[in-house]
Amino acid sequence: MYKNLAQKWRPRKFSEVIGQDIVVTVLKNSLKSGRTVPAYLLSGPQGTGKTSVARILARTLNCNNPKDGEACLECESCKLSIEFNNPDIIEIDGASWRKLDNIRELSASLNYPPIGKRKVIIIDEIHMLIKEAFNALLKTIEEPPDYVTFIFATTEPGKVIPTILSRCQQFEFRRIPFRLISDQLEHICKKEGIEYEKAALDEVARFSDGSMRNAETAAEKLLLYSGGKILSKNVSKSLGVSSEEEINNYLSLIESEDIVGLEKFLNDIEEKNYDPYNFAKRAVMIAQNRVISGKSIHLWFNVADLLITAMIKSRMIGEPMLLLRNATFKAASLGKIESTATFIESLIKKGKTGIRNVTTIDTDILKEDNRQKIAVKPTNEISENKHEETTDIWNKLLDNLEEGYTKSCLKNYFGLEKSEGKWFLAQKSGNGGSYKRVKDEFEKINSAFSSLASCSIESIIDMRNKQENAPAKKVNAVQKKDDTEDETVKLLKERYNATIVWKSYV
Ligand SMILES: Nc1ncnc2c1ncn2[C@@H]1O[C@H](COP(=O)(O)OP(=O)(O)OP(=O)(O)O)[C@@H](O)[C@H]1O
Ligand SMILES: [Mg+2]
Ligand SMILES: [Zn+2]
Repeated sequence: MYKNLAQKWRPRKFSEVIGQDIVVTVLKNSLKSGRTVPAYLLSGPQGTGKTSVARILARTLNCNNPKDGEACLECESCKLSIEFNNPDIIEIDGASWRKLDNIRELSASLNYPPIGKRKVIIIDEIHMLIKEAFNALLKTIEEPPDYVTFIFATTEPGKVIPTILSRCQQFEFRRIPFRLISDQLEHICKKEGIEYEKAALDEVARFSDGSMRNAETAAEKLLLYSGGKILSKNVSKSLGVSSEEEINNYLSLIESEDIVGLEKFLNDIEEKNYDPYNFAKRAVMIAQNRVISGKSIHLWFNVADLLITAMIKSRMIGEPMLLLRNATFKAASLGKIESTATFIESLIKKGKTGIRNVTTIDTDILKEDNRQKIAVKPTNEISENKHEETTDIWNKLLDNLEEGYTKSCLKNYFGLEKSEGKWFLAQKSGNGGSYKRVKDEFEKINSAFSSLASCSIESIIDMRNKQENAPAKKVNAVQKKDDTEDETVKLLKERYNATIVWKSYV
């Protein structure tokens, strides 16, 4: 009978299980010392070895010549168990055996002692049992005959009732590290005489999300696709995953802010049926590598941040392609926002604006009451109060915030200012995007601040382009006639929905 790679390479003993060292070591030691328990629960992500380990454990408990906690695979009991013919090992699929009658039948069968050493009941996907079946099972595992061992496996331990959980020794399976998966694939290829490129195995391992079964199934698909070979050039087409080259093209389009090119690229990957979540994940990994390599750190950090947000949202609300598209276009506009701000700044510095010197702009229309506060607050007064306490609290505040775009905005463009006993969050450089982000997150930032300083931040103030020695003339109202005619103001209003809060004349 034809066996696929995943079936053929199911580990038969503990030493063949990869990436689950803790589980394997603890189980082997308890078998060696004879300290086994009546019920085990194996939980963790799919394709990581739960069913395989359940069978190995059942086999070892029944082996006539176990050695160092491993089954011999040669005695009568081991042979029968490998062929699924061992009458002492009963394997039940929770998905089809979920009813009360099924569990009653099972409990009744436990009254007959084993032919060999132990009666082992494996219930796979135990979370699928209905409530009544769980309760019946609970009674059985509370007082089982001492020749019975239960082994339960599940991907969703949260759905198993706590009374059952508490009666089991629990083992958590982990996603298998990508390197181990790739090496296991290489081992399989060598043994099977399959021609392969290591880079292609790496790609398959990355694609498999920590599941050895996923990796084996994907490798098998590749073999069918490319006539018995596993080659890099076929990976993206056969598995529907993007190649590294494609991701690099995508990131170059973002870097050059080529919206039209990106639109075409995204249509293309949609047509190829690539998984957008997987695509975003791979793009994040490459963007992060660029951050580490120190090239355009700011850009790649923000790109990765936008894509991660899209990934999280797509898991919460679905629509991964829509979210990828949105994040992509945002990512491709990051530089534009930056350069517009720089452009305006340079205009202001050159004094080319009609109002000579725009000192403070509110890029997202501050609330009316905040506007008043800012309008009556001469900026030179605020900056004089920079002292150790401010720096100390500022550093602590940054330490308390999660890594991410908000923190990066604060760190790069903002500072704390104290004036007349009141605290302000001051924007010192950066653009409207960073202002908006900080404003959106203001509550969160403020609560972190309050826990440090036991008072709150009054408001956000804009100190960009403050002229050190210029006497600031306060203008209380939003500018009217001359502002609307001014080129810079027009640009600001269009781009950021900006409002002039006050201005000063040199
Ligand atoms: N830790 C592992 N070491 C070696 N091979 C593994 C491992 N985990 C999974 N495999 C491979 O994947 C196949 C499926 O594994 P298994 O049925 O044990 O996973 P599982 O955790 O029970 O998955 P599911 O939650 O989907 O039931 C095995 O036959 C084997 O080929
Ligand atoms: Mg399983
Ligand atoms: Zn044996």
